[in-house]
Amino acid sequence: MEKKSNHFSGQLGFVLAAAGSAVGVGNLWRFPYLAAKDGGGLFLIIYFILVLTFGFTLLTSDIAIGRRTQKSAIGAYTQMHPKWKFLGILTFLVPVLIMTYYAVIGGWITKYAVVYITGQAQAAATDDYFTSFITSSTSPVIFALLFMGVTALIVYNGVEKGIEKVSKWMMPILLILVVIIAVYSLTLRHTDTSGQVHTGLQGFLYYLTPDFTGLTVPRFLQILLDAMSQLFFSLSVSMGIMITYGSYVRPEVNLNKAVNQIEIFDTGVAFLAGAMIIPSVYVFSGTEGMGAGPSLMFVSLPKVFSAMGKAGIFVGVLFFVTAIFATLSSCISVLESITANCMEIFHTSRKKTVLVLSAIYLAASAVIALGYSIFYVEVNLPNGSVGQLLDIMDYISNSVMMPFIALLSTILIGWIVTPDYVIDEMERNGEKFHRKKLYCVMIRFVAPVMMFILFLQSTGILS
Ligand code: PHE
Ligand code: NA
Repeated sequence: MEKKSNHFSGQLGFVLAAAGSAVGVGNLWRFPYLAAKDGGGLFLIIYFILVLTFGFTLLTSDIAIGRRTQKSAIGAYTQMHPKWKFLGILTFLVPVLIMTYYAVIGGWITKYAVVYITGQAQAAATDDYFTSFITSSTSPVIFALLFMGVTALIVYNGVEKGIEKVSKWMMPILLILVVIIAVYSLTLRHTDTSGQVHTGLQGFLYYLTPDFTGLTVPRFLQILLDAMSQLFFSLSVSMGIMITYGSYVRPEVNLNKAVNQIEIFDTGVAFLAGAMIIPSVYVFSGTEGMGAGPSLMFVSLPKVFSAMGKAGIFVGVLFFVTAIFATLSSCISVLESITANCMEIFHTSRKKTVLVLSAIYLAASAVIALGYSIFYVEVNLPNGSVGQLLDIMDYISNSVMMPFIALLSTILIGWIVTPDYVIDEMERNGEKFHRKKLYCVMIRFVAPVMMFILFLQSTGILS
């Protein structure tokens, strides 16, 4: 067995790189949207409870498996149990699919950052700006290729000199920026045409207050499932990424602490993203102004920034720079996971592997970026939404494959290799794995059942 030459320098480097993977568009455009839609504080409470139980279980498993096997998904699952190699391959395919479109989204964000920096904030706030941008056949491609190129360059430089180095300055700056914008949005004040005053503080309370109106059992279940699928995506678990990053952690690092810190970072940024976005939208367009997904970031927010006047240009710049950092560090982790798997399978060097993968994904990104123009398709997805190429990739990887992989993984760990496989790794240096009982109950009983229900729901079998 060849010795791994790739390692994070220590706990901090690992935690910031893993947080870099975790913090992404999920925190910035999906969490605030869900919180506003699913009853504010009610969603927050449910989400926080899930982070400490379910998220903790899945993140711990991925990272411990990575460090124990010193391998990426395919090798790791094979080593756990040769018959389960198929699950490793399936897990490997998630980043393979995500990589086709993540740089496209990164490209959109970069474009908006450029737009704000070059003083075109007013144009970005007009109605058809986003649609006419993504349906163009040049600009989205150029920005996607640029984003893909930068990602590849960082991964090319390796774990410590590339990924860790970049994460160590990007993540702290990202955190500071999110705090600044969140604090600013709390100070907002706006008088609408009917003379009514709306304040950021009211918006913040709207975000925090649990809204129990119309809470039925089906609605509660819906909120629970929303929170659960958000959590998966948010922590970058069940896609092999945290297995790969876990395989780069030195044996002496305390994984218990690292897992907690990654969870705190990801959840903290999600909460702060809500605190910066919800009050801003609330002050200028009321509770109806929250768009979902891309439309929140590229349509609703530019209007809000424009309503802020001069300050809005500045806030817009800060916001899109924050979003670039979030997306870039996630994109890096996706490419790194694919690279690591390929290096293990084909026994190729990092540089060669990254070069080949770059060529493939530059082409793939261009195709997906053209999915709103030249390669336009419209598909009715089983979950009831209508999607273009990007949404199709997103749907297969996140809604179908991830819950399925998580389901099988919990069965493998809970019942076949048994939880000790993970627990032993968590206690490797004599540390105490505090939530051992919780972990065992979650991985054997609760998580498989929840994953099964989530799988049925997100594939549209149960609706
Ligand atoms: N965890 C990221 C987020 O919350 C999303 C992501 C998914 C990142 C897959 C990398 C890989 O946005
Ligand atoms: Na996240």
